This record gives sequence, C-alpha cells and structure tokens, in this order.
Amino acid sequence: MSEPKKLYIKTYGCQMNVYDSERMAEALGGKGYVETQSPDDADMILLNTCHIREKAAEKVYSELGRFKGLKAEKPDLKIGVAGCVAQAEGEEIMRRQPLVDLVVGPQSYHRLPELEAKARSGEKALDTDFPEEDKFEKLKGRPKAQRGPTAFLTVQEGCDKFCAFCVVPYTRGAEVSRPADRILGEARELVERGVREITLLGQNVNAYHGAGPTGDMSLAGLIWELNKVDGLERIRFTTSHPNDMTDDLIEAHGTCEKLMPYLHLPVQSGSDKILKRMNRSHTAESYLRLVERIRAARPDILMSGDFIVGFPEETEEDFQATLDLVEQVKYGYAYSFKYSTRPGTPAAERPQVPTEEADDRLQRLQTLITRHQREIQDGMVGREVGVLFEKPGRLKGQMVGKSEYLHSVHVGDADVQVGDLRKVRITASAANSLAGVLV
Ligand code: SAH
Ligand code: SF4
Ligand code: F3S
Repeated sequence: MSEPKKLYIKTYGCQMNVYDSERMAEALGGKGYVETQSPDDADMILLNTCHIREKAAEKVYSELGRFKGLKAEKPDLKIGVAGCVAQAEGEEIMRRQPLVDLVVGPQSYHRLPELEAKARSGEKALDTDFPEEDKFEKLKGRPKAQRGPTAFLTVQEGCDKFCAFCVVPYTRGAEVSRPADRILGEARELVERGVREITLLGQNVNAYHGAGPTGDMSLAGLIWELNKVDGLERIRFTTSHPNDMTDDLIEAHGTCEKLMPYLHLPVQSGSDKILKRMNRSHTAESYLRLVERIRAARPDILMSGDFIVGFPEETEEDFQATLDLVEQVKYGYAYSFKYSTRPGTPAAERPQVPTEEADDRLQRLQTLITRHQREIQDGMVGREVGVLFEKPGRLKGQMVGKSEYLHSVHVGDADVQVGDLRKVRITASAANSLAGVLV
C-alpha cells in the first residue's frame, strides 16, 4: 500500500473556521490524506483564513511567502487557500501568489476532493461558489478522527445583518440554518466519539431557525433537544446578536441544566449615535435592559462581549459612553478591536478616526475590561465549580479544564483523566487561570 498523503491545515479567525478545518480534513481524508502538525512533511498545505480585519487578511500573504522554499524543494506540494480571504480575494490571491494551486470558499469546501484532483493534474483550481446543495450532507460518511471532550458544531451560517463595518455577510453569505435532525445526529455521533461538551456555532447563532419535526425550531428548542442527549454534559453557543435574544432562549438560561452560564453577546459600542451608524439596530439602553433580563433568569451568568473603538466619527464622548456601558455590565471576558477599514463595507467610505486616538481608546478600554475580568475571576476563589478536564497542564501531575464560566482551572496531583467532569474548589486566581482542589 502506498504511504498516506499528508495534509497540514492552519486555521485563522473564528471558531467556525476551526469547525470547517475539521470538515476539510474529513473531505480530504476520503482521498487518503492524514493530518500532520508540520508543514515540512506535508503534501498539501491549506490555510483556512479570516478576512475580518486588515491584519488578519494580510497575514495570509506573508504566510504564503514562507512556503516558497518548501515548494521549491518539493514540486508535488500543493498549496491551497480556504476560508474568508479565499472568498473575498480568491482571484487576486491566484494572481499575486503564483505558488497557490487551489482556492476554496467557506461554502464550497465539500468539493475539495475534485479541486485537489484538478490541482494535482497541474491546473489551478478555484471555487468560491455559494452552492445550493448542503455541504455538510455531502461530507457525510467520511473518515473521522478521534476526539477530545469538547467540540464545535456549526448550526447556522452566514449573516443578513450587514453591520456597516463587517465583511461576514459578503464572505459567508446569507443566513442559513441547518435542519435540527442533522444537528442532533451529528451531536450524538460526537458524543459516541467521546465528546461531553458541545458549543453550537453560528455567525448569528441565536437567529437559528432550522426545520424541526413540527415546523421551525428556535435555538432554544434545539438546546432543549440536545439537553436530552445522554452522555452530553454541557451545551454552549456563540456568537449571539442582541436582537435575536428571544424569550425562550433567555428562559433556557435559567432552566436548562446542561446550558452553561456563559453568554457572548457583542454590543460593539455604548454610544447610540455610533450604534446607529454601525447599523446595529439596538441601543445601549435596550442592550442593558436585555442583560438585566438575562441576569434575572440566571443571576450567576458570565457575560462576554466584543467592542470596536475608533469607528468612523466616534468622538471622545461616544467612547466615554462605551466605557460607561462596560462599567454597568462588567464583562467576565471581552474582546476589543480597533476599527479596521474593510473594502466594500459602507463604513470604509466615512471619515476615519486618527490612528493614535483609536490606539489610545483601545488601551483605555482594555485596561478597564482586564480589571473587571480579573475581579470576576478572583471572585471565584472559595467557590465550587464543575470542571471538564481537557488536557495535562504544564507542570507534572497537573490537569487543566474549563469551569462552567469558561475559566481555565488547573488541579495538581489529582486522580483525574481527560474527559472527567469533577467538582473543584477554587483556591487561587492567577493572571489567566484558576487553581483548585478536587472536592
Ligand atoms: N457575528 C458576531 C461577530 C462576528 S465578527 C456579532 O454580530 O457580534 C467578531 C468581531 O469582530 C465583531 O463582534 C466585531 O467586534 C469585530 N469586527 C468585525 N468587523 C470589524 C472591523 N471591520 N474592524 C474591527 N473589528 C471588527
Ligand atoms: Fe458581522 Fe454584524 Fe453580522 Fe455580526 S451581526 S457577523 S458583526 S454583520
Ligand atoms: Fe473571520 Fe470569516 Fe470567521 S472573516 S471571523 S473567519 S466568519
């Protein structure tokens, strides 16, 4: 038998790309590829890329440049670009970087086997279609790798919201929800392969409305169905839009035992003027009221969010409104970004905030967020949390896992295995993790 071919995939961007990379490995697994952790011994390199900010997109070209030597040594090596940069700039990539053999968008990667064959025959292969067929169905029955205790599962893709700064509606296309029975089938299969925690993914995951047995099913409906899956212990979902936080979903946070008390609910800005210009269709006030309702349903929920500073025409006063909102919500985690001009989006044409000002705001916002994050984490000391153990820690005998609130927790010299879900009393809080002892 011939040696299996080796596939190296490097993943950038959001969790949906992580999920897609697993699916791409399965798609090529059917053609005899096995994954490798190093580009050096690969027969095929795939970069699964992100277009969300300029820096992310530019990385692709510098990364590709680094493979020049490798390709010269190994003429049979095929290099492909997948994901959101492929979707947005596929033809330009082919032009700018002759060593690229294959370009595939986020909605057509089930066609990778054919594209690979084309690339192997010496032709350039490019597919950035938005096909009608269900790519996940086309990938069914492919060889599947062993799994750790946590997994992502994409339930919804694309976005119809068109925030004025964002490329996602263009790179991922329109909002589509997968049928509930397929998601439940995939979830059961993941559990059979050892998974105990599933994070449901979507660019607007809470806009999910997939075909269920008795008509449209909401995300809350889907979560309740997953709650019945034996062996599945934890459910999470990300990313949510404030406008799709329906009553049944809020209620599920209070009553569904497997749904974890963590919610990533990006607001982007605390200024109504900026929110309006961002086309967010919620206000700071409506967001704060929403958080109140969520906390009434689940008082210990840990809130997480995303922010953009330096959006066109953001004044110091607008920025202060963002700081005020952060003070009121107190996020356990939050990701803040300097506005990045994205070609083709409406905000790209507007008067830009000077870079130094945006840098200064970003720093001030991050200082505040880090303070809150640390306070919330420190507040865990003395409490008992559930920890799902994921891997050995850096020190001998140490094991690391995540609490319900997504804090990293490590225990030393304890009799636990990867995949165990155990009660832990938190004894100490460090910069990015908690330490504890088994109860
Ligand atoms: N669907 C999610 C977010 C997807 S993108 C939502 O609606 O909240 C992840 C985050 O990247 C966004 O929440 C936003 O904070 C940030 N982002 C998106 N476009 C950006 C841009 N042009 N510049 C800077 N940050 C951006
Ligand atoms: Fe982008 Fe807005 Fe859609 Fe989120 S809701 S993916 S920020 S357009
Ligand atoms: Fe990036 Fe595409 Fe995700 S642009 S954030 S990889 S949807």
